[in-house]
Amino acid sequence: MSSSHIAVLLKESRHYKPSAFFQKKAHIRGLGALKAMMRRAAKNPERFWADAAQQLEWIKPWKRVLDWQPPFARWFVGGKLNVSVNCLDRHLSGPRRNKAAIIWEGEPGEVRTLTYQQLYYEVCRFANALKSLGVDKGDCVALYMPMVPEAAVAMLACARIGAVHNVVFAGFSAEALGDRINDAQARFVVTADGSYRRGAVLKLKSAVDEALKSCPTVQKVVVLRRAANEVSWTDGRDVWWHDAVANVPGECHPESLDSEHPLFILYTSGSTGKPKGVLHTTGGYLTQVALTAKWVFDLQEEDIFWCTADVGWVTGHSYVVYGPLANGATTFLYEGGPLHPEPDRLWSIVERHRVNVFYTAPTAIRTFMRMGEEWPRRHDLSSLRLLGTVGESINPEAWMWYQRVIGGGRCPIVDTWWQTETGAIMITPLPGATVTKPGSATMPFPGISADVVDKHGKSVPPGSGGFLVITKPWPAMLRTLYGDPKRYEAQYFSQIRGNYFTGDGARKDKDGYFWLLGRIDDVVNVSGHRLSTMEIESALVSHPAVAEAAVVGRPDEIHGQAIAAFVTLVGKRSPSPELKEELRLHVAKAIGSIAKPAEIRFSASLPKTRSGKIMRRLLREVASGKQVQGDVTTLEDFSVIAKLQSQEE
Ligand code: PRX
Repeated sequence: MSSSHIAVLLKESRHYKPSAFFQKKAHIRGLGALKAMMRRAAKNPERFWADAAQQLEWIKPWKRVLDWQPPFARWFVGGKLNVSVNCLDRHLSGPRRNKAAIIWEGEPGEVRTLTYQQLYYEVCRFANALKSLGVDKGDCVALYMPMVPEAAVAMLACARIGAVHNVVFAGFSAEALGDRINDAQARFVVTADGSYRRGAVLKLKSAVDEALKSCPTVQKVVVLRRAANEVSWTDGRDVWWHDAVANVPGECHPESLDSEHPLFILYTSGSTGKPKGVLHTTGGYLTQVALTAKWVFDLQEEDIFWCTADVGWVTGHSYVVYGPLANGATTFLYEGGPLHPEPDRLWSIVERHRVNVFYTAPTAIRTFMRMGEEWPRRHDLSSLRLLGTVGESINPEAWMWYQRVIGGGRCPIVDTWWQTETGAIMITPLPGATVTKPGSATMPFPGISADVVDKHGKSVPPGSGGFLVITKPWPAMLRTLYGDPKRYEAQYFSQIRGNYFTGDGARKDKDGYFWLLGRIDDVVNVSGHRLSTMEIESALVSHPAVAEAAVVGRPDEIHGQAIAAFVTLVGKRSPSPELKEELRLHVAKAIGSIAKPAEIRFSASLPKTRSGKIMRRLLREVASGKQVQGDVTTLEDFSVIAKLQSQEE
């Protein structure tokens, strides 16, 4: 983290109180009420979370709120419930029955609305279809789906019968999909023929076909017809969605599931080795996701809530599907590219559907800033009453632009910090209560204990940088890394004793506000998505021309960070622009286009210590165009740096 970045944040002194107008209806009103609740929750977090869990419908009550055998937690021990019942059935007995649960717009422009009753019917039918294909409680079902209502239907259908879903972002490549299917030992895959993205059809089924060449566990593939593109077919394995649901009943008895029954596995990048299968369970996850959705987004009965995340990321799980539906809210889904056919697509959607609460990533906001105010100005955005961000720190300029241009100066902004592992929002303003400061995620949600500490676990004084840790278990925390409890412990609980280690740097100011300072491990955050530099390096090295590769992040105005790769070639190959392009495509094929290096520099050798460790810190400085500073005494051959620096792209 550069010191100039910290200095800029220190200068930030603007702050914004929630307007009286917003407060009037808000679930949590006024700073006094919030502070009192935070104090109560801090005194007895288990009671606070037990009260929150009472808001759900339980088939059998729990016996114990928390069983904490560090680093393993069980929440609401002995309780039984079903997530799909909480998201659907319980809304059917009152006026929500015919309320829109999902409003969807496809990229070509078609619109579909599913009421709670209709969504319930679709979920039950698909759950029955999965059962008749042989899916049992505890089986893993991989979903490789476009942003269509059926993605949510498939997730909820799994939850209904106790199957564990493993959603793989449809932008990931066949290879990445295959790895995730194999690691989770999925026996079933649900996909679509294709999906519309930036005017083209993304061929999902052919990626699945390619992946399954190396996935022996998969028995059945359900294929939704979405884009009507041609697909190849494997008889006996492949089934059309519409055939699978053709003759099944519209009711499906929900499984009574233990509070700790697995709900999903979601892969995320770590700093070393293969992606980590983050495992989330049922009762605790839903409790925190439902409460944070309600309070942070201040969901009101008549709201349309639009979280722009794809269901392939945790944000899509928690705040497109489970959080809003558990609250009986209307959740909006959009299939396609945000700039298609013009850069005002999202604003046109807000205007036509009268979206009230809008939640997106800082990288998207920066993109819109660059496109110019005229695009949002073409639309009536007066339906918006609350804005949110997630994925990385939002620079104060982007925050101010978001507030002024999109929020018309009247909408509070909630900058929410959390992770795939935390399952739900952890540090955030509550919009009717918190005084916000542009660029700060403000304070922990009630019932969450976070701190900024040094490497011995000691709190650092206000204003100093340190490691962000969570000091007590929380209901939506990951329970383990699938199939690898040792890695779970090593990754999260062994680095700073007694605490959950987030991998993020942070500082607290004198008011107790948290300012996030980015990752401190070998992870790059591109457009709010975490990518492991290790994985990109392995992808590069798997190309026959590459001898060695080192990947680092460098600051990027739009994407937060961009990927810079330093590559040495095998003897016979020489650098060329064509080879650069070939290597970029090679990474896209191995991981997905999101991981394509923005920049590749060739070098005869990489800067190493005498013991052979690549000095990434130096590469980070080279990649960001800075003078190489600090200690270089351990560097074996300093001329390497000079050569790399002379190669500007
Ligand atoms: O570095 C933090 C950053 O995103 C990481 C989590 O990434 P992922 O698991 O992919 O989940 C993203 C969406 C929940 C964090 O470790 N991050 C997320 N939100 C913020 C953030 N950094 C600063 N401010 C945020 N609001």
